[in-house]
Amino acid sequence: MPGSDGHAEQVAQALAQATAALRAATDVESLRRVANEHSGKGSALVGLKSSLGSLADVEARKAAGRAINEAMQAIEAIVSERLALLERAAAQVASAGEAMDLTEHLARRSRGHAHIVTQAWERLEDVFVGMGFKVAEGPEVETDFHNFTALNMPPNHPARSGFDTLFVKYGAPGSTLLRTHTSPVQIRVMQEWDLPIYAVMPGRVFRRDTPDATHMPVFHQIEGLVIDKGITFAHLAGTIEAFTKAFFGSEFTSRLRPNYFPFTEPSAEFDVRSSNGKWIELGGCGMVHPNVLRAGGVDPEVYSGFAFGFGIDRMAKERHDVADLRDMYANDLRFVRQF
Ligand code: PHE
Repeated sequence: MPGSDGHAEQVAQALAQATAALRAATDVESLRRVANEHSGKGSALVGLKSSLGSLADVEARKAAGRAINEAMQAIEAIVSERLALLERAAAQVASAGEAMDLTEHLARRSRGHAHIVTQAWERLEDVFVGMGFKVAEGPEVETDFHNFTALNMPPNHPARSGFDTLFVKYGAPGSTLLRTHTSPVQIRVMQEWDLPIYAVMPGRVFRRDTPDATHMPVFHQIEGLVIDKGITFAHLAGTIEAFTKAFFGSEFTSRLRPNYFPFTEPSAEFDVRSSNGKWIELGGCGMVHPNVLRAGGVDPEVYSGFAFGFGIDRMAKERHDVADLRDMYANDLRFVRQF
């Protein structure tokens, strides 16, 4: 079969050249050009195909024709494989070009965070909301009526002197003030809400005080008020204990000590025992005085309730072992960033 070997050799050579050239193409455009050079019109393979007629031997012609077709198919397979690869690479390059460089933002790591008093405030709200309480807020500038009189401290009541009051020049002298506690919100909630009431009232309060390690003229309290039928002192003690465990952890306990407030009767001071065994005084509480219920428009013959109030700053201070309350308000980033 003269000539058939010559054809087979040329086909093999053409395929080898085509394969090498296709593998060397590094972009889609040159791949298509190379594919056309080696398998399109004017290519060696197409030339060989058209010269098949010169082969006299039928079997040799068939064999050579098959070899050319196989070579063409092999080239096609390489082209489609390389095409997919190069297109994927091109897409990657394009998306890399569009991607934003975010390393600049990674470098500026300090996002800031809520102040420890805000953290405590929000955690307190969460704990009480989890216990079924609603959250209320009242004004920081208050009337004498809401801050004192309605809370069973009529004018000249001796207990008023315990609240070092900052007055505001508005209306009759002494009639308007910066609230000295969150208890006036009790009156507003009783006047405005439907019964029964399960409310906590966080907020900023003010007292004429010289700042020291344990006192600030501006601080924060959270007030609690429950008014329902058949509420007893046991409900108060149970609520305080449940709150203590939910806020501080199950290893903490609370205790109540007898105390006096004009707006509650009986009244108590409540303390919480921390993990190091130390008792921390947190605030005051008691059964809402009938005069206070009446001032809020609630009938003390039908309803009873309890109230409590404690300092949020004090709690944040104890939780984070802050030695001096003044540090919490000095706006020193070295302090703030610790928490
Ligand atoms: N208002 C009181 C205070 O500021 C705390 C308190 C609230 C006591 C509610 C009893 C009931 O000292």
